[in-house]
Amino acid sequence: MLRRAGPSLRHFLLERKSSAGYSSYFSEAKMSRPVQSRRLEGVDKNIWVEFVKLAATYSRVNLGQGFPDFPPPDFLKEALETALSRENYMLHQYTRAFGHPPLVKILAQFYGKLLGQDLDPMTDVMVTVGAYQALFCCFQAFVDEGDEVIIIEPFFDCYEPMVTMAGGTPVFIPLRPKAPEDGKMMSSADWKLDSAELASKFNERTKAIVLNSPNNPLGKVFSQGELELIADLCVKHDVLCISDEVYEWLVYDGKEHIRIASLPGMWDRTVIIGSAGKTFSATGWKVGWAVGPNRLLQHIRTMHQNSVYHCATIAQEAVAQVFQREFMLYGKPDSYFAQLPKELQKKRDWLVQSLDAAGMKPIIPEGTYFLLADISNFKSDVPDVPNSDEPYDSRFAKWMVKNKGLAAIPLSAFYCGAHKNNYSHFIRFCFAKEEATLKAANDILQKWKQEKTSP
Ligand SMILES: Cc1ncc(COP(=O)(O)O)c(C=O)c1O
Repeated sequence: MLRRAGPSLRHFLLERKSSAGYSSYFSEAKMSRPVQSRRLEGVDKNIWVEFVKLAATYSRVNLGQGFPDFPPPDFLKEALETALSRENYMLHQYTRAFGHPPLVKILAQFYGKLLGQDLDPMTDVMVTVGAYQALFCCFQAFVDEGDEVIIIEPFFDCYEPMVTMAGGTPVFIPLRPKAPEDGKMMSSADWKLDSAELASKFNERTKAIVLNSPNNPLGKVFSQGELELIADLCVKHDVLCISDEVYEWLVYDGKEHIRIASLPGMWDRTVIIGSAGKTFSATGWKVGWAVGPNRLLQHIRTMHQNSVYHCATIAQEAVAQVFQREFMLYGKPDSYFAQLPKELQKKRDWLVQSLDAAGMKPIIPEGTYFLLADISNFKSDVPDVPNSDEPYDSRFAKWMVKNKGLAAIPLSAFYCGAHKNNYSHFIRFCFAKEEATLKAANDILQKWKQEKTSP
């Protein structure tokens, strides 16, 4: 807070000396010691703060931030209503710190089935305030000064500052795109890791790798072969895998989401992170979890108990009930885990067609809420500024929201500082939206195309 004080306030504080002659102002010297300053690192640069504000100010159609604008399923609302009923008044009180018992029990049952593991709900599962807090706890629990953490680019932007804040050094490895030879539309599967390049990033300082499959922002679902490559390197170099799987149920075209923890040698070195927000189309609920062996989770529990302590009981109860429902329906057509991806796939296809018709080249995602579109054809609307500090896609996304009322997120936001200009001709759209929203986006895109082509 004091860092943000304006000059006059700062001056005033500096002038306030105690009778013994000491300043009452907490000194800049102590404030800027390495640990303090790395905690403030990135505070002013958060992409969401900037782009959420731009969308709120200018957008008519917001396909920027990743949240559905359609209602969550009725059974989720009903579970909350039941939890709120008069008889359940104890659900307004504290519950177990590491997770409300009904929720950790059903999560242990569910993930136990998915992973073919016998999970202890009290030690192998922990509930967090969204997946975000689970990630934060992981980095704080496992990363020390001198540790390196491998992050695959493009990546969910918080990984980098969270690693830095814990004192670690992020080491980046890009997914490299290769255009399909047959002239087909590019797919997220065309973005691949180079195996030799990946191997070169592992060394004795490597503590962990962050895997995000299905990946935000690209929508890539890592294949069995790619996961085996990562797993082999983890085992060979004794490295932890922080596996962010928040989009685990949002996989399209009959593809399968493979959990890296189920590969040989990986259960003991993997923490799986999940999100009820993404799973049940209710991102504001902020209920998440970490699943893994007790040996790893005990450190995460320590972080959690000394920061958040526990998450809202009533939300955990409702999520427990809906997981019970999904457990009963697992593999059946009525399951939300089967219905939601079907619905989202239609929305994805709709947006793909609409972008393609407008001249933005979409990359077909295999999973998630998101797709990328290549904006190279739009240089006449938003000219390139050579040697600009700001990546092209960032200027483009700002121009688009201000001039066309359509909000999206620049891909460069998902790269580290040094690599922001490497893939700066793409913007990310969120298609987890009502038909009317996608139609309104289409109207903007087609009108824009007409303006471009009419003399
Ligand atoms: C890849 C990824 N991980 C984690 C999160 C955070 O999830 P939650 O909202 O449950 O905190 C998000 C949210 O957008 C995400 O995209």
